[in-house]
Amino acid sequence: MEKSLMEREKIILDFSDKCYVFSEEIKPQVKPFVVYEEINFTEIFNNNNPVNVEIGIGNGEFITHYAELNSDENYLGFEVVKKVIRKAISRVERKGLENVRLIHFDAKFFVNLFPNNSVRRFYINFPDPWPKKKHHKRRLLKPEFLNLMSEKLVDDGELFIATDHVGYKEEIVTNLITSGKFKSVFDSWYINELRDYYPTKYYRKFASKTGVYFFHLKNEK
Ligand SMILES: C[S@@+](CC[C@H](N)C(=O)[O-])C[C@H]1O[C@@H](n2cnc3c(N)ncnc32)[C@H](O)[C@@H]1O
Repeated sequence: MEKSLMEREKIILDFSDKCYVFSEEIKPQVKPFVVYEEINFTEIFNNNNPVNVEIGIGNGEFITHYAELNSDENYLGFEVVKKVIRKAISRVERKGLENVRLIHFDAKFFVNLFPNNSVRRFYINFPDPWPKKKHHKRRLLKPEFLNLMSEKLVDDGELFIATDHVGYKEEIVTNLITSGKFKSVFDSWYINELRDYYPTKYYRKFASKTGVYFFHLKNEK
């Protein structure tokens, strides 16, 4: 019998004896015209601690730094490049962190499946700027995605963004205004230095050359 559109399928994320799931396990489960169940963070982390999400974790320095500092919070990281996420996996394993889970897949797919009001903080450090004009549409931080993150964040949830790219920084400001779902904790939309924020690999690469724009936003939904 054909499955009803309302019937929901569950994406199986098997973290039983590891901190990560590779796309090879996820891709075969992703089919057209299927409605998926919401992601269950309690099942993923085996606790009800607050959940922080980093999109584009790179080598995992940032997520592991904060996960180590805050063992009573959960950290979920997404990265699409396998060679890169492998470095993050090694870091989590080396540090023996039990509050980190890593997913080798497009974060946009999974953020859609998060329950509303479930995320404490989103972190997006140096999102790919797609510098060519014809590629700007590929940028992650469009108004629709900002609105989606706002829905998924708890009421006083936070969004942190860092970029070195002037054009993307300007687009982020425009899109934040269009979205209307976030307010800056600063007097301006961004500042050029954020104390006590872990300097990622891309920060170290660009900070002295181009400068960096930091956004620290509060959910205003
Ligand atoms: C410019 S790098 C920055 C890496 C790291 N955050 C840092 O600051 O050093 C951007 C990273 O985001 C990843 N990425 C881009 N879009 C993504 C998406 N939709 N889901 C998951 N990862 C993504 C890329 O593969 C890349 O590793």
